[in-house]
Amino acid sequence: MLRLAPSILAADFADLRAELLRAEAGGADLIHIDVMDGQFVPNLSMGPLVVEACRRCTALPLDVHLMVVAPERFLQDFQSAGADRISVHAEAGPHLQRALDLVHELGLQAGVAINPATPLSALDAVLNDIEQVLLMSVSPGFGGQSFLHKSLQRVAELATKLRASGSNADISVDGGVGTHNAQALVGAGATILIAGSAIFQGGEATVRIRQLRSAALAG
Ligand code: DX5
Ligand code: ZN
Repeated sequence: MLRLAPSILAADFADLRAELLRAEAGGADLIHIDVMDGQFVPNLSMGPLVVEACRRCTALPLDVHLMVVAPERFLQDFQSAGADRISVHAEAGPHLQRALDLVHELGLQAGVAINPATPLSALDAVLNDIEQVLLMSVSPGFGGQSFLHKSLQRVAELATKLRASGSNADISVDGGVGTHNAQALVGAGATILIAGSAIFQGGEATVRIRQLRSAALAG
């Protein structure tokens, strides 16, 4: 079943509780939180304090996307802050397995995020150790970028790969997702759509998220 994960990067931070409630009222299934360290990606965003604030505003699962070098340094902090699922980048350091094992030891669901130019084979060794692949459909670091069209083919290839390995991991697509490509992404095998600007910009989040779900399930 399709799940929608609003990315709060595009939300109004002066009104975060209300934004979360609006997203929830529109049918959000998870809340996506983008953590950027200014090193793995050329931008800074938020840390455990914001995760902890979200935890006090919603009971929805918190899906933390770490765009951080050597993410294993911070896993405990995000668990304490209330994260439910943590994704680390395949490109973020030499110890992907250690990071995933640590996420599980902390009692959380683990994901691997993968950049648009990284071959999907980078996931091969860990496919059966994860609950989610977070497929980047833009270069990570900023909201509001255009969807890279080749990502559609990557979703389909990833779906085939997961089936072949017997994995039930979610395929989450992140970056440039909106009503214009939601249906195609679901058709290709995406199980979670992450969307920032398509939900929090250009209208009321409750309405925007409903429109996104209708578009995704149309046809
Ligand atoms: C980008 C982040 C995304 C971002 C998506 O590095 O990982 O989660 O919020 O934003 P939109 O949906 O605006 O492309
Ligand atoms: Zn993200």
